[in-house]
Amino acid sequence: MQPGPYAGLVTSRGAGSGGRPDPFSEYTTPEFWNDEHISGQMLRFHLDPMAEPASRAHHFIDRSVDWLIPTLGLATGSRLLDLGCGPGLYANRFAARGIQVLGIDVSRRSLDFAGAEAHCRSLPATFRQGSYLSCDLGTGHDAAILIYEDYCALSPAQRATLLTRVRAALRPGGRFVFDVTGEPRFSQYRDAITREPNLMDGFWAEPPYVGTHETWTYPDLHLVLDKYLIETQAGTRCFWNWMQCLAPREVAAELAAAGLGRPDYFGDVAGTRFDPSATTFAVLTRRPEQ
Ligand SMILES: C[S@@+](CC[C@H](N)C(=O)[O-])C[C@H]1O[C@@H](n2cnc3c(N)ncnc32)[C@H](O)[C@@H]1O
Repeated sequence: MQPGPYAGLVTSRGAGSGGRPDPFSEYTTPEFWNDEHISGQMLRFHLDPMAEPASRAHHFIDRSVDWLIPTLGLATGSRLLDLGCGPGLYANRFAARGIQVLGIDVSRRSLDFAGAEAHCRSLPATFRQGSYLSCDLGTGHDAAILIYEDYCALSPAQRATLLTRVRAALRPGGRFVFDVTGEPRFSQYRDAITREPNLMDGFWAEPPYVGTHETWTYPDLHLVLDKYLIETQAGTRCFWNWMQCLAPREVAAELAAAGLGRPDYFGDVAGTRFDPSATTFAVLTRRPEQ
């Protein structure tokens, strides 16, 4: 396969370029996480203790679980819902502390890993394949988590759906922790296009292929789209990755609209102090008792 005219070229398109996709016009997250080649690459990142493209470093996850157990009010026998659990890096650590975990994920490959580990170690964790936007989340959970800023990959309508579903899945008083991409992150992005053979060193498909990476920014929404077009001998595939950078007050409004309680803010899901100038923060909310 021959690379096209933009091979190796990175350009800044500038404002006013045509072809800007409508915000949240496509959602390909399940296809990304279930692609045979890509899901293998992502699982390798998850399992590398220091790599951060898929999960946080494992020493951070250890610290995070230590903080989350008391913060979520969990004890032996408590029930935790892990949304987008991936290969169970959090879920199986909680389960090893006697917490009954239900992990939900779209990725078959990640869930197979998580389930095999839980089975091998006789951990009280079960895993269910499906989208947390539509599948059965169960009810009566003591707490829920959604970790790695996945909240910000969703459209406002999807976030509203998710929060309503989380509220219904929690027992009254149940707690929910998730992390968010903060508004200061938006300034790091510019419109650009790169086209090159085997874009990102074979991440997207078995070489040879040609990959085009477009970045589109939407300043009024603090929204970024990374769109990847992957051309292989077998055909062309497109992956859309949205990231909406949010301010704490926007998250608070979304929680209130879904009937969840006024949030507490932290710097991350290990309980670091909240910093309004940081590019990420974490949120703790509750389903009201009544
Ligand atoms: C970046 S990984 C983070 C995994 C895990 N929370 C962690 O921090 O190790 C995001 C995970 O969310 C899953 N995911 C994305 N969208 C989802 C959806 N709509 N429903 C269920 N799982 C989803 C992906 O398959 C992937 O395993």
